[in-house]
Amino acid sequence: MPDMGRFSPEIPHEELNRRRAACQAGMEPDSLLLVFTAPRRIMSNDVHYRYRQDSDFYYLTGLPVEEGVLALMPDSATVFVKPGSPEKETWEGPQPNLDETAEISGIPSVKDLSEFDGTLENLINGKQALYYAYGLDSVRDHLILSTSQRLILRGRAGASGPGSIIHPALLLHELRLIKTSWEIERMKETAAITDEAHREVISAARPGMGEYELEAILHRVFSKHNASEAYPSIVAGGRRACILHYIKNDEVLKDDELVLMDAAAARGYIHSDVTRTFPVGNHFSEPQKELYNVVLQAQRAAVEASVVGATMDGVHERALNILLDGLVGLGIAKESKEQMLEQKSYRRFYMHRTGHWIGYDVHDVGSYYQKSQPRPFEPGMVCTVEPGLYIPGDDDIPEHFRNIGIRIEDDVEITENGPLNLTQSVPVSIEQIEELKC
Ligand code: GLY
Ligand code: MN
Ligand code: MN
Repeated sequence: MPDMGRFSPEIPHEELNRRRAACQAGMEPDSLLLVFTAPRRIMSNDVHYRYRQDSDFYYLTGLPVEEGVLALMPDSATVFVKPGSPEKETWEGPQPNLDETAEISGIPSVKDLSEFDGTLENLINGKQALYYAYGLDSVRDHLILSTSQRLILRGRAGASGPGSIIHPALLLHELRLIKTSWEIERMKETAAITDEAHREVISAARPGMGEYELEAILHRVFSKHNASEAYPSIVAGGRRACILHYIKNDEVLKDDELVLMDAAAARGYIHSDVTRTFPVGNHFSEPQKELYNVVLQAQRAAVEASVVGATMDGVHERALNILLDGLVGLGIAKESKEQMLEQKSYRRFYMHRTGHWIGYDVHDVGSYYQKSQPRPFEPGMVCTVEPGLYIPGDDDIPEHFRNIGIRIEDDVEITENGPLNLTQSVPVSIEQIEELKC
């Protein structure tokens, strides 16, 4: 087996075969699915970002290769890859050859990518439908559309092109939305790494430390487990917790502040997504506790509401109701809950949704609505539950609540037996957090 690279553990053939078979079973008869690798992205001049495989390609092949195409038909599959060369190996290390590609992916039919353009016409000819993620690469779009068009025009000669081009979101992304037990096991592993990282940071945080030092602890724990950060980590002290996508992480922490840390591990493109909010010093202040417990109550209720048949909107409403009761009860909001709901003025304090799908992408694929209605949860879906409150520093807010931002986020599997919180071991109650600090 070749060196598969830092972020690419092997996926068992059984798992890959099951995924491909499910995809094939959902395809139109006489159809073709084309899935391409992700492009390399330039960071600066001739320096590239670390390579990130296309999630669909990885899901169906398990291949880390940077240049390739999967051609899947209802009863067969061929993968085209660019095999390594001695020169490339000198710079970038071993690349799988054609045999190794077959061994990793479990797809016996492997061809050199140089054959793809010449084979494309044959692959598409006679297909009624083509599954293809159009709109990402105009050169590729042109190649595929012009090849299809040429085949349609050559009908007199017996050729035929696809009458429909279907986005893989309608098939493949719906499959990806329902996690296999193998994926759930991997998600539990990234959850355990994330748990360790959060614990280390919470117990290490002290006044005078930089947000960047806490981020360094996260990276050390992730790397120790051959994982990476699932997304740019947010380590936001004090008022910066109210900046939803704060990733500068370049300020120094003060004693009386909270830190909102939205940070999690990914390995083999399987993601966690976890947020905890904790004091820099040893204890939450009373106002911090009061606000924290509102968010915690909302988060727990929203997790409990994440059952088969519930919807993302329903879970959001459950959390929102508790958050708004809390805002009124603490004297932060001057309007009634009903007024805030009617005018959506609660967005001043809570401006994002309560969850999203998670899996091979942190904001994972799969539709949220069906025929314009929120889709009911099914067993095997995994979503985040992440309510928060972000209190501005305005004069009309009681002074002790100003500039506090709190979010609590877990990853929840929907099961027949109720919600399974995959990240529940990450300390979350005030007692658990304060205990870690002492
Ligand atoms: N970390 C991104 C999110 O919570 O959605
Ligand atoms: Mn999230
Ligand atoms: Mn998050």
